[in-house]
Amino acid sequence: MRNIILIGYMGCGKSTVGKALCRQIKTELLDTDQIIEQQEKISIRQMFEQHGESYFRNRETQLLEQLLMDSFYGIISTGGGMPLKEKNRELLARLGVVIFLKASADTIYQRIVSDQSRPLLNGKDKRKEIETMLKERLPKYEQAATFVIETDYKEVEAIAQEILSLMNTLD
Ligand code: S3P
Repeated sequence: MRNIILIGYMGCGKSTVGKALCRQIKTELLDTDQIIEQQEKISIRQMFEQHGESYFRNRETQLLEQLLMDSFYGIISTGGGMPLKEKNRELLARLGVVIFLKASADTIYQRIVSDQSRPLLNGKDKRKEIETMLKERLPKYEQAATFVIETDYKEVEAIAQEILSLMNTLD
């Protein structure tokens, strides 16, 4: 079996879909944001404030390298910026099957409008920020993806099922 790696913009459902997959195939679920927070013993918001974004980005790369070395097996839910670096896209491809959970700016906005935990969305016009960032990031997400799944208006369990069906098409 191969690892299933979930990528996509903040609020696209990586964690919830990861949990649903976990229920269905009973394997380990690893959330890269959570692991980095545990290792650093501070929140991502604090990490950005105290050490800057590039520090966090380097920690993301180090974690992917560590997972490869440890031969991790299971489902990996990634932070929304993980596939932006070329190095990370290479590491993700080596780690497993990369699933891009695609969602529209409207869907994302509805999901994260009142969430204060994301340091990159601090401005006044969150809806606009999301739209701009999505446009910039889309090519990177698509480049990194083995499969792209449209998630708008779909139930979490149905998305998980779709991923498992795609996994079954691989040899
Ligand atoms: C980020 C997304 C966050 C977290 C950090 C940066 C991004 O993860 O890694 O705040 O650059 O999109 P989620 O996608 O889980 O919110």
